[in-house]
Amino acid sequence: IPVDSFDLVIFGGTGDLARRKILPGLFRRFCAGQMPPEAQIVGAARTEMDDAGFRDMVRAAIDEFGGGAEDPGQLDSFLERVGYVAVDAKGDGGWKALKDRLRDDCVRAFYFSVGPALFGDLAERLRAFGLATETSRIVVEKPFGHDLESARALNRELAQYFDETQIYRIDHYLGKETVQNLMAVRFGNVLFEPLWNAQFVDHIQITVAETVGVGGRGGYYDDSGAMRDMVQNHLMQLLCLIAMEPPAQFEPDSVRDEKLKVIRALDPVEPHHIVRGQYGADEKQPGYRAHVENERSRTESFVALKAHVSNWRWAGTPFYLRTGKMLRARTSEIAVVFKDAPHSIFGAEAGRHNNVLAIRLQPNEGMTLDVTIKEPGPGGMRLVDVPLDMTFADALGPDGANVPDAYERLVMDVIRGNQTLFMRGDEVEAAWAWTDPMIDGWEARGDVPKPYDPGSSGPEDALMLLHRDGRRWRDIKA
Ligand code: BG6
Repeated sequence: IPVDSFDLVIFGGTGDLARRKILPGLFRRFCAGQMPPEAQIVGAARTEMDDAGFRDMVRAAIDEFGGGAEDPGQLDSFLERVGYVAVDAKGDGGWKALKDRLRDDCVRAFYFSVGPALFGDLAERLRAFGLATETSRIVVEKPFGHDLESARALNRELAQYFDETQIYRIDHYLGKETVQNLMAVRFGNVLFEPLWNAQFVDHIQITVAETVGVGGRGGYYDDSGAMRDMVQNHLMQLLCLIAMEPPAQFEPDSVRDEKLKVIRALDPVEPHHIVRGQYGADEKQPGYRAHVENERSRTESFVALKAHVSNWRWAGTPFYLRTGKMLRARTSEIAVVFKDAPHSIFGAEAGRHNNVLAIRLQPNEGMTLDVTIKEPGPGGMRLVDVPLDMTFADALGPDGANVPDAYERLVMDVIRGNQTLFMRGDEVEAAWAWTDPMIDGWEARGDVPKPYDPGSSGPEDALMLLHRDGRRWRDIKA
């Protein structure tokens, strides 16, 4: 879908996210011919810099974090659209100059690639200095608050200056190609939806495993932990897309209304259905506590839990969620594990078999459906489960391998004015309302997370969480 001409201002334009994701993503869209010729990108931050200085920074960022230019001249023409204005988020400096850069007859978007402490200051100044129009959009990054109360305060603050239809809260998981595919699979096929309920689904597993540790973000992370950093947002969004009712249309409020209903139907999680872990040291590197420079840290770098969506569709079907850092492999996967056939005509020796639909978000994006068939050979009716494998790169040729980065898609959706893949304020609040009691609970109890080895599947207790229910996690493998 073509996009209208736009002016995009990136506050925090010299920051990590802008350099790693936003600017390279915009460049790839430019190379794909999706950027109107007059489109303009303006970096804004506190540092004094001129256009040329910022362009050098952008060039270096694109070289480092993935460009995708087929001919080198493309980068030069992209950079002609890039400029910079130094602004003071808490003062008056630079705002008039920034305003003078913007054109009147095109889409205006302001990307707040800064910490939430500055959201209110930026929003206020966009209005006070007359940069924001009735159709301007603002884009805000996570963390959207630290708990329900702070998220409410942020929503209230932004609402003073912008209408909900102008606010784009990013959860980059919604921009991932396979995550969107989840909706295509569910609602574009007749095959799955009739079985997509407690009658046929035994349980669902959502795993987002990372091999990296907390890196240079120790300060932020130690204050957050896996529950706030990953479960409240990314895993929650995946759960919503799996569990929601079919929206009447693929349209922002239809989709977000259905997601909200799922979050509101989540039962509080029992403390003994939550396992928290923290990675230890190995011979190659120090452990979590050294990484965050807090020897007494009780923050979790891993969490696994059992959730229940209390509604007609899902009554009795557990949703097992787990995510962690420093695990065996980087893999994100959703597995819908169907029940056994109600009666086995092949007798006990044929064993137990069930269908599993596994949706791999990354890497090797694709899906597999385990189907039970007869094991070839004359030895009687022995059954075996064989995956129908649809790795997108194989099934779709070069287009399947060419998966755009989440940010590319999302930034273009902002320009198009499509909020479907962005979180609404009430959705974010409902998600905090579900995670807050879990966090409050373990803080009040003084829980210490269980240690786990780097390169493992997390703490033993997480395995037990399913084991107790007669189930097992799928392997964490690349
Ligand atoms: C971010 C979290 O939102 O998502 C990080 O803050 C995490 O801690 C990252 O590493 C994972 O994203 P992805 O796209 O690499 O799965």
